[in-house]
Amino acid sequence: MTVTLTTSESAPGSAEADVLVIGVVQTPDGPGTAPGSDGVDEALGGALKSALTALGSTGELEELTRVPGGGTLPAPLVLAVGLGTEPETGSFGADELRRAAAVALRDVVGKANGKNGGGAAKRVVLALPARDDSEAEAVTAGALLGGYAFRKYRATPAADVSVTLLTRPGAAAGVRRGATIADAVNLARDLINTSPLHLPPAELAAEASRAAVEAGVEVEVLAEDQLTEQGFGGILAVGQGSSRGPRLVRLSYAPAPAAKTVAFVGKGITFDSGGLSLKPPKSMETMKSDMSGAAAALAAITAVARLKLPVNVVAYLCAAENMPGGAAQRPSDIITMYGGKTVEVLNTDAEGRLVLGDGLVRSGADDPDLVVDIATLTGAQVVALGDRTTGVMGSSDEVAAAVASVMRDAGEPAWAMPLPAHLRKGLDSPVADLQNVSSGRSGGMLVAGHFLREFAPDGVAWAHLDIAGPSFNEGSPYGYTPKGGTGAAVRTLIQLAANAAAGQIPGE
Ligand code: BES
Ligand code: MN
Ligand code: ZN
Repeated sequence: MTVTLTTSESAPGSAEADVLVIGVVQTPDGPGTAPGSDGVDEALGGALKSALTALGSTGELEELTRVPGGGTLPAPLVLAVGLGTEPETGSFGADELRRAAAVALRDVVGKANGKNGGGAAKRVVLALPARDDSEAEAVTAGALLGGYAFRKYRATPAADVSVTLLTRPGAAAGVRRGATIADAVNLARDLINTSPLHLPPAELAAEASRAAVEAGVEVEVLAEDQLTEQGFGGILAVGQGSSRGPRLVRLSYAPAPAAKTVAFVGKGITFDSGGLSLKPPKSMETMKSDMSGAAAALAAITAVARLKLPVNVVAYLCAAENMPGGAAQRPSDIITMYGGKTVEVLNTDAEGRLVLGDGLVRSGADDPDLVVDIATLTGAQVVALGDRTTGVMGSSDEVAAAVASVMRDAGEPAWAMPLPAHLRKGLDSPVADLQNVSSGRSGGMLVAGHFLREFAPDGVAWAHLDIAGPSFNEGSPYGYTPKGGTGAAVRTLIQLAANAAAGQIPGE
């Protein structure tokens, strides 16, 4: 753990730290100090506003300005972060607070770690608006998400950064929620960033078991023998080309009085080479992230358990390594999926839908009120929506729209997509119940959605999140999103479970 967070009710102007983070707002007459930083201006002899102005600060969201502590503050450095315009009434927006706290912490952590590591420990005091539960939750989550750094393979370990969030006693629950959610997102990021050499399906299952036990979630791992006995033909077919066998992990959290049940089904391809339908080298470089859906499902169920939400949650992690070994499946193989449907596998690179089909059918046995699958499923998603916006499909347009809206409210860009009826025909096979790729070329994201729909439990609200683009950030960090694994969909899944705990099921 590089960043640790505690809370305090002491005054910003007297807080001892290496860095004191305050908020700046945009006002008609230049930068203004945001709530939470009381006493800092006084400690600087009333010079804060003129210093900010002289340093070019405007208060624009995510802008960073460094102001010396001047020897009159117990902190040598004030890091002023822009929050945009102050809302006239009520709390600051959650996304704005998360983004501001995140860029401040990323700056501090980046400098503490240095280019080659070996940095010194840093104490940070966060004096951002955290007056109520929702502000405190957002600042906490933003700080922990922005302070994320993946240093597992570095010679020098990450510097310890201790963050003290200045808040009010009434906001403790918000802080706890924010920290629990951010920890879950960071767990997903760690798994996604881990080298695929070190994360074969059995190891993903072991990591899931460790995380589950710690959070009080029950876990059951099916290895190859059991998968064979029980007929998980999709997971087995995808995994058979690798020397490192597939696994199906079932996680369950069942608090006694819960009325609703939500099932998550995550694509857990620990590496996607394409199989015999081999990918070109460039396309393979990021394919360690092809287990992001499984990571999100795991992370979300651990958070739901930690938050003790009154809802039953089951999560299926469909884990396999898609490799072109001598035992690999062949284009034109016909396989029998869990539940009995047959599939003609024409392209072994369309493997996600095969492992998910098994998981979706299996989830039906849990009598769920809502099933959500999460998958880095298609390059077509990235073409259609770009690399930040998740494509949401579902059992009805209403369910897809409702889930996309929950996702956007959680700060995760998403757009509801249709499943046009005519695209289903392209999946008709001359020899099996279905083929795994379409005979037509258009609408690849939607065709994949159609395929999954054939395996989703009948009569149950079902949503499919295609996170191919959003799961992995190949560019520079922005807001609370780091380079590499992002933890996309984790916060949405937690929110969907929270909504179900409150009796709300999308589309109902
Ligand atoms: N894992 C890939 C999808 C992907 C692409 C994820 C880019 C993240 C970034 C998936 O298994 C895949 O290979 N899909 C094929 C499907 C096609 C063969 C119908 C694709 O999108 O090309
Ligand atoms: Mn593939
Ligand atoms: Zn894949």
